[in-house]
Amino acid sequence: MPLSADTLRPGAPLTGELFQFLDETHQQLAQELEHLNRVVDALVRDQLTPQDTQQLARTIHWFDTVARQHHQDEEKHIFPTLLTSGDVQVVQVTERLRQDHGWIEQNWLEIGPHLSAVVHGNHWIEPPLVQEMVQMFSQLCLDHLTLEESLAYPWARSHIHAVDLAKADREMAERRAKYAARH
Ligand SMILES: [Fe+2]
Ligand SMILES: [Fe+2]
Repeated sequence: MPLSADTLRPGAPLTGELFQFLDETHQQLAQELEHLNRVVDALVRDQLTPQDTQQLARTIHWFDTVARQHHQDEEKHIFPTLLTSGDVQVVQVTERLRQDHGWIEQNWLEIGPHLSAVVHGNHWIEPPLVQEMVQMFSQLCLDHLTLEESLAYPWARSHIHAVDLAKADREMAERRAKYAARH
């Protein structure tokens, strides 16, 4: 069965499909960044439609929820194996990826209030500044994604044992179930 775009539903991901799940989240990330840039372009041109605003609200929610869970998935189940690999390049790349998560979170915490202001029709925002922030955030996310897909994921795929993948699936499903129960 195809994995739902709503990756916060209890039970996700499915056992044995960890990498498919992570790959699909990356595809969603690329799509959400496209939405974000398109909406901000419209904002700068003063052509924002109600549909754009609704899309922006969905994109904010995606970054507030799915993106953060995704970083936790990687930090709990992908990065530890890479950090203990004994391969200098793999360790360096993984440390950089972990640091990126901090930068991405910090950038998002700065951008989020501006985007929420757009959704709520507030006028204190400066569209060119918001666009500049979104462009920087997008580049950071895309560079990060490329590095994960070109090095971290292939290495993890061939080194993480099936038993650990099953444990990862369980932890991820339980964490999402707890999250869903709290919200
Ligand atoms: Fe990541
Ligand atoms: Fe990722």
